Amino acid sequence: MNQKLSSLFVLGAIALGSQAALAAPDWSKVPTKNIPVIHPGVSPLEWVQSRDHSGASGLKKGETCAGCHYDGGKLDIDLKRLAGKEMEPKGAPKTMNFPVGVQAAYDATNLYVRLTFKAPAGGFDKSDKDNEVKATVMFPNDKVPLAEQAGCWGACHKDARTMPGADDKKTKYATPGAMDLMQWKSGGGGKAVDGTVTDKRNMEGGKAGVTAEGAKSGDTYTVTFTRKLAGGVNLAAGKAVPFGVAIHADNAGGRFHHVSFNHTIGLGVDGDVKAAKQ
Ligand code: HEC
Repeated sequence: MNQKLSSLFVLGAIALGSQAALAAPDWSKVPTKNIPVIHPGVSPLEWVQSRDHSGASGLKKGETCAGCHYDGGKLDIDLKRLAGKEMEPKGAPKTMNFPVGVQAAYDATNLYVRLTFKAPAGGFDKSDKDNEVKATVMFPNDKVPLAEQAGCWGACHKDARTMPGADDKKTKYATPGAMDLMQWKSGGGGKAVDGTVTDKRNMEGGKAGVTAEGAKSGDTYTVTFTRKLAGGVNLAAGKAVPFGVAIHADNAGGRFHHVSFNHTIGLGVDGDVKAAKQ
């Protein structure tokens, strides 16, 4: 092969390769796992690790939120208590829990995550005027407190904004660890956030190259995220990676979201959600 021809060949191979990496998974072939999200009231990390929570000693022994509250695929938590004045001093949404369908797929470069859900009306807090809905997925690294046991709770603190009495400038934090935060916001035709949670929440500057697309059809939202496996929290094939999901429905802001417990995406291995290899 002469020089020109071989460089053309290389260019062609690169074009083909990147096209394959960008090819969206055929979601009709990927199984859906329904996981519950709940309005968590005021139950920050400090509370779940305190004497006020009967699960605290189990957490110390390595048990997980989902292990106690979502065993055998059934939600087992006192939603009435979570909606009551003791744990929700401001006001609870009418719908305390709903399922989110989660699908995942991966190739050599990317992880693809697709969420399908009906965002309930009847919210209490409608402080995000710009976005009717936000869908967020977070991946903790192994330095986040209770990274594998508590999902997003590792970043949820009692002194973060919208918590009772907290400073409105203080955001969630995951010290001494870090989480990748990917979000889709419905406002302005839809926007993706590639962020992180370190000693504060950063809504840009993530290293996972996140893109997101969302659409509403009837009353169902479908949000598809693409992120790099490497970059940010490293999500290598052969691992079950912990993640958490949060949905801000009905223009909710701050802590007034519905959140999942700890779950895993298995990349070529078992997990709560099994990522299909592309
Ligand atoms: C060892 C089992 C166990 C683990 C692990 C556990 N919990 Fe609990 N949790 C309980 C029990 C039992 C209650 C019942 C009420 C109580 O605290 O007295 C409870 C209560 C709660 C409540 C208040 C609503 C209710 O049902 O009373 C919330 C919120 C909660 N847990 C969240 C969590 C989160 C978040 C995690 C993980 C960080 C977690 N729990 C881990 C056992 C557990």
